[in-house]
This record gives sequence, structure tokens and C-alpha cells, in this order.
Amino acid sequence: MSTVDLVVSNCTVVTPEGRSPNAGVAVEDGEIVAVCRSDRLPEADRVVDAEGNPLVPGIVDAHIHNREPGLEYKEDWESATRAAAAGGVTTVVGMPNTDPVIDRPERLDLKFDRGEASAHVDFGSFVVITSENLDRIDDLDEAGATGFKIFLGSTVGDVPPPSDGEIIEAMERIEETGKRLGFHEENGEIIDHYERKFKREGRTEPIDHSHSRPVIAEREAIERMITFAEETDAKVHMYHVSSGSGARAVARGKDRGVDVTAETCPHYLWFTETVMNEKGNVARIQPPIRNAAERAKLWEALTDGAIDCIATDHAPHTDEEKKVDDPFGNTWDAISGFVGLETEIPVMLTFVNQGLLSLEEWVYRHSTRPAQVWGMYPQKGSLQVGTDADFTIVDPDLEWTLEDRTDLHSKNCVTPFEGESFVGEATTTIVRGEVVYEDGEVVGESGYGTRVDA
Ligand code: DOR
Ligand code: ZN
Repeated sequence: MSTVDLVVSNCTVVTPEGRSPNAGVAVEDGEIVAVCRSDRLPEADRVVDAEGNPLVPGIVDAHIHNREPGLEYKEDWESATRAAAAGGVTTVVGMPNTDPVIDRPERLDLKFDRGEASAHVDFGSFVVITSENLDRIDDLDEAGATGFKIFLGSTVGDVPPPSDGEIIEAMERIEETGKRLGFHEENGEIIDHYERKFKREGRTEPIDHSHSRPVIAEREAIERMITFAEETDAKVHMYHVSSGSGARAVARGKDRGVDVTAETCPHYLWFTETVMNEKGNVARIQPPIRNAAERAKLWEALTDGAIDCIATDHAPHTDEEKKVDDPFGNTWDAISGFVGLETEIPVMLTFVNQGLLSLEEWVYRHSTRPAQVWGMYPQKGSLQVGTDADFTIVDPDLEWTLEDRTDLHSKNCVTPFEGESFVGEATTTIVRGEVVYEDGEVVGESGYGTRVDA
């Protein structure tokens, strides 16, 4: 082989199938041209030495709120994807609860144009389905939506849910596109009832917010959407499954042959609801962090495959919106959501270090599987020759503590992971053969990232 653009040598290459020590990868024109023994790598213009560390297919986070267009005071494509690069994430998919919401092709075009102009890593975007745009599903598909999203319960952005009849019609139309429909799966009537009741009763603690959105709201929404999918043959996805009970409902749907996939987030696996009494509204999120019994069942579901993938729900808000100065103040005055792009790999590697899952399982759930779920595989999520040369190199042994959230790269960095200690972090991020993060610095250019075809 003649000289190539880049090789990464001296890696332990890890894929879902296994690991190869003393291995490396070679890249030409942004694509993988070889995965082989380190001593068989071709000459290259640039050599990155992984120092024996694991190299994995680039991590895919298919659930981030990049906030652009319209809410750039919270975050934008540049800052979100800067955080992604620094966090070892090579592909992100943005959520549609922006301002305006992404519900028609022109708005999706705008979102993509902004991403092309400023992103550091590759990206896609979901579009929202409401009562107003069922007739635009084909156009949104053609405009390149990664997938479709319906908000069932009220959440940040206040996108009203379609009726059950409209959801069934949406599923029938989306089924024809071949793409997947994901849900913010909380039963709106249940959570609205408890929020009103708790407010009437003067319950204002951070944990009251959690209890106003009980597990049954999630489980019922999952079961109802699975029933609709069974009837319509739609491919469906459950975002941010927070509870073991919800995950078991997903498992029952899979057993019935429904094409239902699910993700959970690092915070549901790491914390229990007692974090609300320790960190207050900083940890306020929708759906909320659950009790220890639900977390234990969620872990079982991750291990047995009911949960397909990991995503962050990275949701930046300002300190003022999160009420950081008074974290135990009236919870109804604080907003839900926090950032996650730069802690997701450390959290997952800490679990690997604790023996809760293997490196191979981690790679599957955090790269390969999300790429498959959202139609990006094998271009993303694999180390096959001819696919995008997206790599994440990690140091799985580095012990560190997130002492200061302002070290993170998002515009707003509120996170309950501040003060938490980890074993492991991303050291180098490579997108289509370009090093975008190394030695603690984002070195890639804004605007390098590009849309993943969908
Ligand atoms: O806590 C949340 N924050 N849950 C959501 O569903 C939306 C997100 C946001 O956009 O901030
Ligand atoms: Zn979200």
C-alpha cells in the first residue's frame, strides 16, 4: 500500500465482536482502508500513537439538544459539537424542540445549514410530529430527517402531543418511509395531574418534581405506543427510558415481535432519586431519576438487551434557568435538563471498570447499536474498510474528578456529575480521518462536521 493520510498505531482495537491488541487502523480520504496488526500498517502522512489504549468506532450520541436555531443563548451547533469532540463523541443527532420547532422541511434545511457552517463533528436531526404536520411526513423524510419524534407529555418546549388517532396515522405514514419514530414517552394526563395536585398541596421540593412524574406514566406510554406499533408495523424507539419497569415493557414488546428499540442515559444508571436531596434542581430532568429498585431493574434490562443503546439527552440551560444559586428552592421555578456530552464516556468506562459491562458491550451500546437504530450503520458505528474513519481513543484507567463544571465546553454547563469521580476518559477523537480532539484541546475546525445522509 502506498502512503496513506493517517494511521493510528499501537491500539487495542475494540469492536462488539472482540478486541485485538497491538493493532491499528489506516485512513485515506476520510475512510478506513485497513484494520490490521500495528506492524503491518502502511506509511502515513500522520501517525497517532494510541499507547496501547483502546480505539473504538466513534461514539454516537443520538439524543442531544443542540438548541439551534433560536435558543443559542443556551447552546448552539458549534458549542454542542465542541463538547462532543472533547467528550469523544463523533456523531450526534439533535432534537427538534428548538425555536421554531423543526416540523417542516425549510426548518430542517435551516438546522442543517447551521450545522454545516459550524459543527465540529458529524450530525443528524430529528423532526417533530404534531397535529399540524402529518401531511409533511414524506417531505421531512426527503429533506433528510434522521428520524421522527413525538412528545407525548409536556416537557421543555411545550410541544403539544398529537391525539392517539393522529399518532396511529403518523405511524402508518412513517412506516412507509422506512424510518423510525421515537417518543418522549410520559403519559401527559398522569404527569399533568400530579403536577397540579402537588402544586395545590404546596409541595415544592426537588424530589416532588420527580414524584410528579411517576414510573407508571412512562410504562403506560411505552405500552400504548408498542400496541400502536404492533398494529401499524411502525418502527418505534423509546428515548431516555428511566425506569426498569419501562424497560421491561420494551422487552415485552420485543418478545411480541414489535420493532421497538430503546435508549437509556448515563444519569439513570449512575444516580438514584436521592440525588434530588443532595444536588437539588441541578439534577431535575424529565423523565426523572428513579429509585434504587428501578435502577437495578434498568441495569438488568441493559445487560439482557431490552435497552439497545446509550444516549445523553444533553440538555443545556443557563444557571439562571436551572436556579443554580438556590438548588433547593421551589422546584416548579426550575427548568429540567442538564449537559452530558463530556461525561458519558467517563460514566460508561467507570461502569466497565466496575465490571458492570465489558468494553465490547459498551462499544455496542454506545456506537454500533445507535448507528443501526438510526440507519447510519455501517457508515457510522463500525470499523469496516470503506466506512467513515470515526474513532474514539480512550484511557480506561485514568482516575479523575469533575471538580469544576466550567471546564466543560458547552455554553452552559450545569450537571449533577460535577463533583463525581470517574475511571476513564476519551483522549483522542477522530472524525473522518481528522483529529478533532487531542491532548485536552479541541483542535478541529468549526464547520468540518457534516450531515450524515438519511
Ligand atoms: O429534562 C428534559 N429536558 N427533558 C426533555 O424532555 C427536554 C429537555 C430539554 O429540552 O431541555
Ligand atoms: Zn431530550
